[in-house]
Amino acid sequence: MAKLWSGRFDEDTDRLVDELNASLPFDKRLYREDVAGSVAHAEMLGDCGIIEQSEASAIVAALGEILADIDAGKFEFSLADEDIHMAIEAELTRRVGDAGKRLHTARSRNDQIALDFRLYLKREISAVRSNLLALISALADIAEKNLDAIMPAYTHLQRAQPSTLAHYMMAYANMLRRDVTRLEDCFDRMDLSPLGSGALAGTTYPIDRKKVADKLDFSGITENSLDGVSDRDYAIELLSDLSILMMHLSRFSEEIILWCSWEFKFIELADKYSTGSSIMPQKKNPDVAELVRGKTGRVYGDLVALLTVMKALPLAYNKDMQEDKEGVFDALDTVQKCLPVFTAMLQTMTIRRDNMRKAAAEGFINATDCADYLVKKGLPFRDAYTVVGKLVNDCIATGKTLETLALDDYKAASPLFDTDVYDAISLETGVAERKSPGGPAPDAVKAQISSIRKFLEDSQ
Ligand code: ARG
Repeated sequence: MAKLWSGRFDEDTDRLVDELNASLPFDKRLYREDVAGSVAHAEMLGDCGIIEQSEASAIVAALGEILADIDAGKFEFSLADEDIHMAIEAELTRRVGDAGKRLHTARSRNDQIALDFRLYLKREISAVRSNLLALISALADIAEKNLDAIMPAYTHLQRAQPSTLAHYMMAYANMLRRDVTRLEDCFDRMDLSPLGSGALAGTTYPIDRKKVADKLDFSGITENSLDGVSDRDYAIELLSDLSILMMHLSRFSEEIILWCSWEFKFIELADKYSTGSSIMPQKKNPDVAELVRGKTGRVYGDLVALLTVMKALPLAYNKDMQEDKEGVFDALDTVQKCLPVFTAMLQTMTIRRDNMRKAAAEGFINATDCADYLVKKGLPFRDAYTVVGKLVNDCIATGKTLETLALDDYKAASPLFDTDVYDAISLETGVAERKSPGGPAPDAVKAQISSIRKFLEDSQ
């Protein structure tokens, strides 16, 4: 079958070239956007008198039927059509004859794909955003129920200071809130229609770019036609945002994996969201969290792949850019597969408060509070730090904790110690007194939850 561009060729392309060149197997995913873009373009051509109104109407009607056929799985895609743009245009011409051949007036596949891709990604960003908001809401729910679930917080994976599970959940909620706003920024920047950039130098027809942009719900139009067809920043930016999001999910996954190990046992995952071993009968594995951690690698890979494709391309369009799609689709599919399962995994986990508390009680995480106790009695912090450091050292040597150390031993270390030290170093006090904004004290975490809930409400 003759190609739409076969006019200046004497020979058919080699079959292997057709296979290499065709993007249809993956860009047919853009069919809705391709039809929507063509409908808007055809209407604009009719409105501006560039084609007859009757032809525009015939094109729009036939595109509607083609869309319905593709939706219903009744459209036969042929590799010979090369890409989704030509597949739809060729079918249009089969259906409405000459009117179909006029659709591509004042348009190039270069601005057509740039338009389709932006339209598609805008829709996908909204879908990712909804899933992210659901995850953040689940975190706020868990936090609300665990304001007093004391656990150790870590630095260097060494028990450091007292915190709560609620405080932890809200840390992740804040990370994910940034992911939402990053996606929104990305959406806003990509929200410009490139249609009308033509192949690269605009067009001599009296088109109305703004009208097309309005019909397609863009907030405006791109300002330079060379840039309009060459730019893939929006896809790279989205991949960066998705990479950061996956990095967050991966860090969270790592904690989940640690927390459900026998060494921690802070949580237990529901059977529904765990897997077993084919040989070890006792195993219950956190595969969901491990897969999310693992899939982070492929999303980073998608980002680096596209950055590398674009890095030395001269303006304007180069066929290299056809490589932009599969990685972005892969990253979106990956994120969209991970988010709902991750949310459900968290919503169904059992929290072992007793084990968390036990871990909090065993790691000298109240040592800072013990030093602060001396500071409040007048000792400079550095001196207090040294006194308590020695006490911890003695406790380790004698198998005691700061809670079980006798008052005499305290007094021997510093005469400033008195019976009220036990209350000052209790975990409950340690959490309750950390009420500076952002801290783990229940009221401080409640403020964090309200802020996140307000954000969720404003984001509806
Ligand atoms: N399938 C192509 C792509 O995805 C469409 C643009 C083709 N443009 C061209 N000048 N060959 O990049």
